[in-house]
Amino acid sequence: MKTKLSAENLAISFGSKQVLKGINITFAAHEVTALIGPSGCGKSTLLRSFNRMHDLSPDAKITGTLRLEDMDLYSRNVPVTEIRKRIGMVFQKANPFPKSIYDNIAYGLKINNLPAGKEVIEKALREAFLWEEVKNDLKMPATRLSGGQQQRLCIARAVALRPEVILMDEPCSALDPVSTLKIEELIVHLKEKYTIVIVTHNMQQAQRIADKTVFMYLGEVKEEGDTDQIFNNPKHEMTANYVNGQFG
Ligand SMILES: Nc1ncnc2c1ncn2[C@@H]1O[C@H](COP(=O)(O)OP(=O)(O)OP(=O)(O)O)[C@@H](O)[C@H]1O
Ligand SMILES: [Mg+2]
Repeated sequence: MKTKLSAENLAISFGSKQVLKGINITFAAHEVTALIGPSGCGKSTLLRSFNRMHDLSPDAKITGTLRLEDMDLYSRNVPVTEIRKRIGMVFQKANPFPKSIYDNIAYGLKINNLPAGKEVIEKALREAFLWEEVKNDLKMPATRLSGGQQQRLCIARAVALRPEVILMDEPCSALDPVSTLKIEELIVHLKEKYTIVIVTHNMQQAQRIADKTVFMYLGEVKEEGDTDQIFNNPKHEMTANYVNGQFG
């Protein structure tokens, strides 16, 4: 499979604290990759580095090379707005704008100078499996939606920009099981068009939706491979212990 996103010799520290070291990883196009590992091992830090979320931390030091296909994500010539358009992100807590459902999507399109017509907005809502539930309430404040609907709205907002990659940091951790399954179904459907990297603490979830799984520990990638192999035939004892719930 074609590599969509990659990190080469990536190291990240905040002040004197080294959080990631020697990360070499590739994410294949049109696959779902799960990042797993104990709390504090650097999953979010890695994910956020791909859309330049550390730019605002003055004490962050990043070395190594991150690429979207051939594009160096930290090159001075690449505007961060361009990167965030091509690499979307969905967070643990749904964060709709305090606007209507319709305007949540229209706003993201407008600030990116993209056409924000009705058809585009309907298409994004359909793609996020939300249209049928909201088509008669498009003017309603997005904050009145349920948590799971808000998270699908945030996914709709991301896909409206036609990104190539969608990064998701524990997108279901605040949701009930039914909403979680809906989002999982959505993720599997979205990989036809996008490359997806998802951080999750839910081992069943990783096994249900991820083609590849990456196990991280103390700032390093300990093991990566097909999800089936990582869960059923891990090479490292530490991976086995983690996926079997013996620590973390
Ligand atoms: N902006 C920052 N400044 C200082 N330290 C940071 C910053 N961001 C992350 N860290 C530190 O980096 C380490 C890794 O954090 P990170 O959020 O990447 O872990 P994680 O694997 O996502 O954990 P969790 O599963 O709990 O979300 C932590 O010790 C955290 O305190
Ligand atoms: Mg995290």
